[in-house]
Amino acid sequence: MPDTSQPHKLSTFTSSEPLLTLSRPGLTIRPLLHSDAARLALLCNNIKIARNQGRLWPLPYTLDCAHDWIANTRHPSNFILTHDLGELPEHSQVPIKAPKRWAIALNGEQIGGCGMGIVPLGNDREGDDRVGAIGYWIAEEYWGQGIMTEVLKAYVAWLWRAHPKLERLNAHVYNWNPASVGVLKKCGFELEGTSRAAVMRFGKKCDLLNFGILREGVVVDGEAPTELPAGYND
Ligand SMILES: CC(C)(COP(=O)(O)OP(=O)(O)OC[C@H]1O[C@@H](n2cnc3c(N)ncnc32)[C@H](O)[C@@H]1OP(=O)(O)O)[C@@H](O)C(=O)NCCC(=O)NCCS
Repeated sequence: MPDTSQPHKLSTFTSSEPLLTLSRPGLTIRPLLHSDAARLALLCNNIKIARNQGRLWPLPYTLDCAHDWIANTRHPSNFILTHDLGELPEHSQVPIKAPKRWAIALNGEQIGGCGMGIVPLGNDREGDDRVGAIGYWIAEEYWGQGIMTEVLKAYVAWLWRAHPKLERLNAHVYNWNPASVGVLKKCGFELEGTSRAAVMRFGKKCDLLNFGILREGVVVDGEAPTELPAGYND
């Protein structure tokens, strides 16, 4: 039996194999590789992508930015405990710490990215692993072919398997981005609210659309606690 009792001791994630192979021929989700850097910089240096991302997305997106991002995603300090590594042969024994961000590839070549980070809930320490937030993008030349919808459906299904404590996923979309709204709705996300004028990107302001999806079967307790549960230990 492999020793899975101390997964944090994994220091280097080296696999380049697909995490998931999708039904469209050649389409995979795989680890980001240092050899992706030049292409990543080329694809991401696009205001039509950058305007829909958070403030950490640089523009211009230089080769250095791409190298930094890849190094960041592959650094063990940014890994997350993962209970299912799909098809990755190198780490078939789980749980293990693995990257949070992945490349979307067509015939091995990167065409996009997707990732999930756990949302730190300040007042909810006991539920720290319950809520995640996703992000994704596809290179402009591949838009409108249903690729992101196919990827997101498979990715979300994998996230539930890989992170058993995860109960909900957030997705935040700027209201000038109907394509992303379309993808989320087709993948089962629901619009839960709008944060008005919450976003300023390259000098333009818009509303932030807050989407969410729950793991099947998750229900809200509804009643506030009036006493500590048996065995509760903060
Ligand atoms: C959002 C994004 C990932 C969509 O990827 P994609 O592979 O083109 O998405 P899909 O083809 O699977 O689906 C897009 C859906 O939006 C619809 N859509 C696209 N543009 C639209 C528009 N202007 N108005 C209404 N619907 C639109 C498409 O018709 C499609 O729905 P359909 O299949 O019912 O026709 C891609 O546009 C992208 O990377 N944009 C820049 C980065 C980004 O926005 N990331 C997400 C941040 S929240």
